[in-house]
Amino acid sequence: MLPSLLAITARRLRVFPAALCAQTRLYAAAATERKKFYENVSISHGEGGFEINLDRRKLRTPQGKIFTAPSEALAVAVATEWDCQRDVIKFYTMHLTTLCNTALDNPTLRNKEQLITAALKFLETDTVCYRVEEPPGLVELQRNEWDPVIEWAEKRYNVVIGSSTSIQGPIIPTETKDVFSRHLASYNSWGLLGIEFIISQLKSLVLTMGLIDRHLPVEKAVLLSRLEEEYQIQRWGNVEWAHDYDLQELRSRTAAGTLFVHLCSESSTIKHKLLQD
Ligand SMILES: *[C@@H]1O[C@H](CO)[C@@H](O)[C@H](O)[C@H]1NC(C)=O
Repeated sequence: MLPSLLAITARRLRVFPAALCAQTRLYAAAATERKKFYENVSISHGEGGFEINLDRRKLRTPQGKIFTAPSEALAVAVATEWDCQRDVIKFYTMHLTTLCNTALDNPTLRNKEQLITAALKFLETDTVCYRVEEPPGLVELQRNEWDPVIEWAEKRYNVVIGSSTSIQGPIIPTETKDVFSRHLASYNSWGLLGIEFIISQLKSLVLTMGLIDRHLPVEKAVLLSRLEEEYQIQRWGNVEWAHDYDLQELRSRTAAGTLFVHLCSESSTIKHKLLQD
């Protein structure tokens, strides 16, 4: 029952539910595992929002607060992450749980303004705005793949972004930053945390907004964020296993971030809306 709601949501957002259950290899070395201590995962409606029950115990944040998700859909997604764990709980695979914990505990005590400033900082060094001057194949690939996304963002937000081959990158007009700043301010701090998480994965505000606005599916946004690597791989072949692993991990994080942003702004009646879709 839990995974089916998640599957509907994930399909609607064009992210892969499988990405949430990705049991990624090797990332594991750190002591971030624990023997599984519960059998059943369920959700209940508590005072502060939706809570996760691991058998009879309530899930808590690292700081010991009762874990509460602001929407049922997000609680379902988090519960699914716990439900996916087998004999060992692999915390590093649980990106949604981690994002919620960060929002709940706010360990670095950042406010909305600081989150917006951090997100905007990436615009000045946005992946899709930095262009190479050679080799010609890569120049062309960047133009063909990145120009349409920049054009989409310029139209969608009615701003000038542009691109540049200069080391300093393009000069982003102050008005553009103001527009994005106002737009980001319309999200609550949970949403902003998710947005900043995706931006830091893709190193791109433009690609992140493409994802959030459902202009780009996760797979495409990730591909566009790694255009140069993809170009090298196509030229030299996928010789290092690390490429595959990095790609899976990046997809999984990006999918989780995207789902997080959408699910924490969805109202608790999402279930009814979704089931009518
Ligand atoms: C988990 O759920 C099953 C099926 O409802 C039940 O039989 C079992 O006792 C539950 N386990 C625990 C530890 O509560």
